[in-house]
Amino acid sequence: APYIATTSAPVNIACIKYWGKRDTKLILPTNSSLSVTLDQDHLRSTTTSRADSAFEKDRLWLNGVEEDIKPGGRMSTCIAEMKRLRKELVEDVDASAPALSTFAVHIASYNNFPTAAGLASSASGFAALTASLAALYALPCPPTALSLIARQGSGSACRSLYGGFVAWNAGTLPSGLDSHAVQVAPETHWPDIHALICVVSDTKKGTSSTSGMQRTVETSSLLQHRIKNVVPQRMKDISAAILARDFDRFAEITMADSNQFHAVALDTSPPIFYMNDVSRAIIAVVEEYNRVALLPENGGKRKAAYTYDAGPNAVIYAPAANMKEIISMIVRYFPQQDAFKDPFGLFGAAGAG
Ligand code: DP6
Repeated sequence: APYIATTSAPVNIACIKYWGKRDTKLILPTNSSLSVTLDQDHLRSTTTSRADSAFEKDRLWLNGVEEDIKPGGRMSTCIAEMKRLRKELVEDVDASAPALSTFAVHIASYNNFPTAAGLASSASGFAALTASLAALYALPCPPTALSLIARQGSGSACRSLYGGFVAWNAGTLPSGLDSHAVQVAPETHWPDIHALICVVSDTKKGTSSTSGMQRTVETSSLLQHRIKNVVPQRMKDISAAILARDFDRFAEITMADSNQFHAVALDTSPPIFYMNDVSRAIIAVVEEYNRVALLPENGGKRKAAYTYDAGPNAVIYAPAANMKEIISMIVRYFPQQDAFKDPFGLFGAAGAG
């Protein structure tokens, strides 16, 4: 019988940004973070893993192209950790279980969105890889254990194992055993919040998250202020806003944290610029939209929130009822953005999770 399993994992977009590691090998962060997991239907990685005693070595294909598995690298760490769990949790317990931990694996992963768009493909990719190996190995383990392993592939991946609103608690243990994601609320708690992804540029970013955040840790004093004095309170406040379904407060915190993350990038030496002129113009449009919405006669509450990761593309969170208006506003203000006209350029990821 073939030993094979296929699993998908969605993309997540952070509202409180992870930026900085205290341990680069285990991928332990300098601060906690919180994200919204997007709808599976729109943005996901799907991974098939197969184990066979006839395979000579572990091999990996990404979108149909074979990639090297670097010894000691993140991919090889994740595969080794999953094989270890298979041995400990299944084979050592049940002598009749096939010794899959001794077989090599072939892994094929596809994204249903353009990788070049700079949309957290490593997050959904490592989450799908971990989930697919867990299914292949029939691991009787909770998502927490998988979150700990996905984290070692890419930090943000530990959050994609849960739907809805997800916190990654930084933890304090040197082993990293307390540094995994937890669900703050399921997608059903607040299905009204939608995400719109505006692909400002689909060219690959200049500075990768991994090297950028390391440089920030080494050179930015603003990062130290952020870690100590800003993020802990924001984690509490945004969790409370989510539990209360308070979009106005959620939006205020999300935008402030995106802006502080990009300020910390700018405070890095040499400085890192992830946003471009179009990104900044989108900020201006959303800020103006909210300024009008905040007038007492218009209800006095924010109607949209922008956030940017390590690239120029905007993600706009908003209640579903505002999305039509926001899309037409973005299309109208940026007629020169051809990408906003094609289906991958500008689309909504309905629901959270
Ligand atoms: C700006 O998870 O890609 O998107 O752990 O080095 O793989 P590594 O970094 P990665 O960083 C994501 C940074 C971010 C913010 C976030 O998703 O929280």
